[in-house]
Amino acid sequence: MSERGLEDRSADSALPASLTVDAFDVRMADIADIDLERLQALSISVGWPHRAEDWQFAREVGHGFVALDEIDRVLASAMWFPHGDDFATIGMVMTSPRLQSLGVGEWLMKRVLSASAGRTYRLSATRAALALYRSLGFIGHRTVFQCQGEARRSDRPAPAGPARRLEASDLGAVTALDTRAFGTARDGLIARLFEQSVGYGLERDGALAAFALCRPFGRGHVVGPVVAGTDEDAVAVVSPHVDGHDGGFLRLDTHLDEGIFPLFLARSGLRIHDTVLTMSRGAPLTDPATRGPHRPVTYALATQALG
Ligand SMILES: CC(C)(COP(=O)(O)OP(=O)(O)OC[C@H]1O[C@@H](n2cnc3c(N)ncnc32)[C@H](O)[C@@H]1OP(=O)(O)O)[C@@H](O)C(=O)NCCC(=O)NCCS
Repeated sequence: MSERGLEDRSADSALPASLTVDAFDVRMADIADIDLERLQALSISVGWPHRAEDWQFAREVGHGFVALDEIDRVLASAMWFPHGDDFATIGMVMTSPRLQSLGVGEWLMKRVLSASAGRTYRLSATRAALALYRSLGFIGHRTVFQCQGEARRSDRPAPAGPARRLEASDLGAVTALDTRAFGTARDGLIARLFEQSVGYGLERDGALAAFALCRPFGRGHVVGPVVAGTDEDAVAVVSPHVDGHDGGFLRLDTHLDEGIFPLFLARSGLRIHDTVLTMSRGAPLTDPATRGPHRPVTYALATQALG
């Protein structure tokens, strides 16, 4: 090796092992204009299971923004989902790991809040996002337990008796029951979910008392929304989905942490995988402890983004 070569090597060893490169321009764009594959690459980067179809559905029922770098790579996203004129949920908030803590999440969240101004909000916050949402005036309510795993059919009959498969003609009753539990009518969303789902319902005195929808999502299928007034009814409408997916990947997100419903989930192979916190700004959450035969509550969310 020449003397010159040796000099170069000693110059290299004086270089720092890493370099901070964050001084490039980031611009905002409408999420509707971005290829699904690029959105999916972003969610994969933060370890989320969304398929291109899940992103497509989110865009059909919501609005949002992305941050793009100088060569149009998607660095971050934030979305909002209107439910009626006065209320919205917020979700799909993520920043590529290499660009976190630089203010991009806050920038997109402020844009979402100004685009949806005049509404009250609810969202599901991960631990990483708590500081951001608190700084924007959100307060925490209840933990959501993300339960998932390989579904296991139960030998025991459901305590409230067999549920029946829902049909197109049940949509009105499903929407009305969801509204009572959710607190806001979300007819359009429920109709879209109903189209993609298999549903089971339970009737009492000629009226729908509980229902559970189940559709493809992420790594397998998700059960939600589920609305019921009692744990027995909730178990009765979720059981057929567990049986139908015996051995398959099933997920259910619930606020319930006591009573027979969480025990039934664990027995069915749906173990707690993660938790998030339901937070709101001006829109308190119905406490599931108030549930009763005439007081239906949401036993499972449609998704964390949709509530
Ligand atoms: C949560 C998340 C979207 C924040 O995005 P971001 O672009 O890093 O947000 P910002 O840089 O605007 O940071 C906002 C605040 O959150 C804090 N923060 C950001 N990332 C954090 C982390 N991983 N842990 C703890 N705090 C964090 C910042 O320090 C900042 O706090 P400050 O205002 O007190 O300084 C990002 O961490 C992320 O994508 N995480 C993985 C996916 C996720 O959890 N999404 C949230 C769904 S609710």
